[in-house]
Formats: sequence, C-alpha cells, structure tokens
Amino acid sequence: VEAKLAAGPLKGRRVLVTSGPTHEPIDPVRYIANRSSGVQGTAIARSLAALGAEVVFVTGPADVPPPEGVQVIRVQSASEMADAVAAALPVDAAVMAAAVADWRVKTASGSKIKKVAGALPVLEFEENPDILATVSQMASGRPALVVGFAAETDDVVAHATAKRARKGCDWIVANDVSPATGIMGGTENAVVLISDAGAEEWPRMGKQAVADRLAKRIAAEIG
Ligand code: CTP
Ligand code: CA
Repeated sequence: VEAKLAAGPLKGRRVLVTSGPTHEPIDPVRYIANRSSGVQGTAIARSLAALGAEVVFVTGPADVPPPEGVQVIRVQSASEMADAVAAALPVDAAVMAAAVADWRVKTASGSKIKKVAGALPVLEFEENPDILATVSQMASGRPALVVGFAAETDDVVAHATAKRARKGCDWIVANDVSPATGIMGGTENAVVLISDAGAEEWPRMGKQAVADRLAKRIAAEIG
C-alpha cells in the first residue's frame, strides 16, 4: 500500500477538504445546524489521500468518523471553520464540501436562556463569512483549483452555474437534495460537475464512487 501511495498522482500535492455541517451556538446548550451528514466530504478526503495527496480535513460535527491518513481539524461553527481554513493555506487545491451555516446568532448567550412563561425568545442573526468565496477570490496565494458544492432543490444547473460565477470558484459539484431524491443523509449521490467546459451530468452512484471520480479529475487537473 505504501509503495502505491508513494506512486499516487497527487503525491506532493496538499489539498484542503471542508466537510460536515456547522453548529451555530444559541446558548451553551442549544445550536442551529443543518442536515449534512459529512459522508460525501469524508469520502472525498479518503479518495484524495488514496491518490497520495497530503489532505487537511476541516470538519464540522459529522455523523461519520474522518478517514484514515488525513490531518483532521475539528470545528463547530462557521467562523471556526473559516479560521481553520485560513490556517491551512496555502494548498494546491481546496474542495469545500461543508454545509456551512449561512447565518449565526448575533449575540449567542453565555448562559442558558431560561424558559419564562409567555415570553418567547427572539434571535437576531448575522451573516457568516463565505469561506468558498473568500478562498476563490484571494488576490495572492489562491489554490490552483477551488471546488465548491451546491445543494439545490430545483433547477439545479441554473442555480449552480450562477453560484459558480458569484463565488469565483473553478468547479461546482451540484446536486439535487430534494427529499424525494433521498440523497441528503443517503448513501448515493447524483451530481453535475460544472466548470468552464459546461455542465457534465454524472450517473447516480455511491458517494464513495462520486468521490473517487472527483479525486481522479482533480489529479488530472493538478497532479
Ligand atoms: N460555503 C462556504 N461558506 C459559507 C457558505 C457556503 O464556504 N458561509 C460554500 C459551501 O461549502 C459550498 C458552497 O459554498 O461549497 C455553496 O454553498 P451554498 O450553501 O450552496 O451557497 P450559498 O451561497 O450559501 O447559497 P444558498 O442561498 O443556496 O444557500
Ligand atoms: Ca448556504
């Protein structure tokens, strides 16, 4: 195995992968999260490592353990993820598979918010930093390849194509996460790879197979 890894096409390449959901605190016992399981991001990190890459894996609180053979950095919130990503740079490629919370509670309470009969709490939000856009638009030291994800529920290609332009990333891996697809939290994925070359629809396959295919494409690009 070692000889195989040593010969991998991504040997000597450093790749960052973000994965999982983020948890945005409300108070010490409560948080806002999303349904990301971390399975797809974990699979991508595994595939990249198998091709010989040095992988920095920045993960929110996921349902699955991180892969073997990668550097694991565990975070909770989006702002912690942004800091961990900044600290991991420079890298040759960045794959942002995390489902980063768009908003955080503006003033998370340091003590538990107590229930008071008849008085409902009101949460005020502010926007989290956009990690993908920040890395994509770096004036210097930008990774040679920046890959974003887009989980959409309708008109997947149109939304993801617009998202790619807005963020400034090189590729977007888009998928339809409508409940009927069973993709969110499931074992399979059906993605469209959006790049300069247009939209390339991949057949539905296991999430590890999607990861292997994406890692090979990344190796062809930067290996
Ligand atoms: N992303 C990020 N930082 C954020 C939000 C999103 O790095 N604060 C990244 C995700 O990791 C993903 C990509 O941006 O690779 C797209 O995330 P998505 O939530 O689909 O995009 P948004 O711009 O937040 O748009 P939407 O309104 O659809 O949520
Ligand atoms: Ca979002």
